[in-house]
Amino acid sequence: MPIAFSRRLTPAITLAALTVVLNGCANKPSGPSEPSSPGVGTGGGGAGGTPIIVGEYGSLTGPQSTFGTSTDAGVQLALATVNKAGGVNGHPLQLAEGHCLNDESKPDTTLTVIQKMTTQDNPTAVLGEVASTLSLTAAPVCDKAQIPMISPSSTNPKVTQIGPYIFRVCFIDQFQGKAEAEFAFNNLKAKRAAILTDQKSDYSTGLTQFFTQSFQQLGGQVVSAQIYAAGALDFHPQLQQIAAQRPDVLYVPGYYTDIGPIAKQAREVGLKAPLLGGDGWDSPALVKGAGGPGGALEGSYFTDHYSVNSTDPTVQQFVSAYKAANKGAVPDALAALGYDAAGVLIAAMKTIPAPPDGNYASASYRAKLRDAIAATKSYKGVTGTITIGPDRNAVKPASVLRIVGDQFQLAATINP
Ligand code: PHE
Repeated sequence: MPIAFSRRLTPAITLAALTVVLNGCANKPSGPSEPSSPGVGTGGGGAGGTPIIVGEYGSLTGPQSTFGTSTDAGVQLALATVNKAGGVNGHPLQLAEGHCLNDESKPDTTLTVIQKMTTQDNPTAVLGEVASTLSLTAAPVCDKAQIPMISPSSTNPKVTQIGPYIFRVCFIDQFQGKAEAEFAFNNLKAKRAAILTDQKSDYSTGLTQFFTQSFQQLGGQVVSAQIYAAGALDFHPQLQQIAAQRPDVLYVPGYYTDIGPIAKQAREVGLKAPLLGGDGWDSPALVKGAGGPGGALEGSYFTDHYSVNSTDPTVQQFVSAYKAANKGAVPDALAALGYDAAGVLIAAMKTIPAPPDGNYASASYRAKLRDAIAATKSYKGVTGTITIGPDRNAVKPASVLRIVGDQFQLAATINP
């Protein structure tokens, strides 16, 4: 899907930022109570109270740039929608510093950004990250500060194990790895799998482990297991070893920037087997990186969180609203999960009373919000129905998508 994503600062945000300067902020760190003015109209039926600050961090640049950009567009759509409808208790939701903070797809920048956000911006809650390794970097900071953090899309099991303030609205990799193993064994009739793993990524090593376990349990064999480093240019040595074992499928649980060159070089060494992947493949840049439609990834498959082709009215309403807000861009799973993460946060806020002191960033309000997020039940999201379990994860079906031209077509739905 060749999609151009645009990042923009909406006039609403600029206005909201101005309001903070003039009126003070609903997220005041301390001080005497100042009753909020719920429901003050803005003429268009929007929220007119002092803003509630929500932190967002993500990879707006670097090798995972489409992850952050798409997620942010989904988050922005959810915030704009609730703000238009009066916000939460009459307060609009506003991103800390007016925008998603860019972690550049790097752990060290993630740490800098999250430390600054949690100590200076005083957010009510935090949304992010996509990449599991980066969520694992930020989560201890949020958990220690007792600020609820919701990862839209980090699937490695360790993320929510960091502590009681850390949540996710997606499935986890035990399930995702198993789903792809079942699809390979049952649907593709694969008996021999090879695996190529990004050694430094928690996401990639986790999926490798879970896929291997499930595939072997089903009766399949892993005939070659090789490693790579994200950003490498030459994958020929590993791919030659893999090709020599003549696998039926090659599983590459990595991120989209590396998948293109890996797929092209796999074909160069004569490997004809389909490549299989996980949600990390989902990007408007994926197919282009593999030589374009009909190129090295034609007929390959990956597991994901939703399909844009779904006939579910919740999905179709989201797709049209997203396109309207983003110059016709088609939302990928990241955008859908960003929208759902913000949606779950907003729904949780609406289940608890407004803080009597008007402070939406106090420890007591955040603790109540944490409990409310933990109590999320049957939230109707774009990526499926979200119930947060005792481990702070969501249990949801996976979509297996087939790459056909520049489209990702729904090939199977695997239920938990
Ligand atoms: N699940 C991936 C991770 O944990 C991130 C991801 C989610 C990427 C959805 C693309 C789509 O690292």
